[in-house]
Amino acid sequence: MAQVLIGGRIASSAEPLRCAVFISGSGSGLEALLRFQQHDCHHTTCVVVSNKENAGGLDHAKAYGIPTIVIPHIDVDGKRISREDHEQLIIDELRPYDVELVVLSGYMLLLSPTFIQQYSPNIVNIHPSLLPKFPGAHAHRDVLQSNETLTGCTVHLVDEGMDSGQILGQCRVPIFPEDSEVTLSQRVKVEEHRLYPAIITKIANGEILGEDD
Ligand code: GRF
Repeated sequence: MAQVLIGGRIASSAEPLRCAVFISGSGSGLEALLRFQQHDCHHTTCVVVSNKENAGGLDHAKAYGIPTIVIPHIDVDGKRISREDHEQLIIDELRPYDVELVVLSGYMLLLSPTFIQQYSPNIVNIHPSLLPKFPGAHAHRDVLQSNETLTGCTVHLVDEGMDSGQILGQCRVPIFPEDSEVTLSQRVKVEEHRLYPAIITKIANGEILGEDD
């Protein structure tokens, strides 16, 4: 199995890895990443992409002076734009930013094989469970319906499956008997906000490689 440099090069604080962060919601993970990148850092967010005009994370981007691209996946008539057309609009808008790493941070749309092939292996995601356990959009609910006493979060490369790409890093979080989805997600997010910037740093330094099969 060959190993590949995620992002394509070893970055430095003088020439940080150029990230596009994709969001759909509150963007607490984006905010944590932007805060981390304020200090001597080997990666930078050059643009934030949202499929939701009212995503709270857009305010974080603006507060840090980061350009935003907002492309709703629903058109003015309420119809879903085809995934390929929607992604092509994003790809066109991203072109001037010379993006080296796509960072999915609460982006709620599945990417098409075409998009993934274009950027692979330079797309990462954070998922709120200890993958391969509990993939999918309802990880906390599914965890709470199980008998698990431990959950966590996972940063992984994005492939064409659902939360199935190579695992790059994980962090464990205890589950308490009185937990609700809200309390569990809050506790997991504390760790997500540490894990994601740390793993992106390792990627930028060439300390974590992708496995190309
Ligand atoms: C996080 O729990 C992340 O793991 C999942 O979506 C959530 C995004 O939260 N993929 P936020 O928008 O960053 O607050």
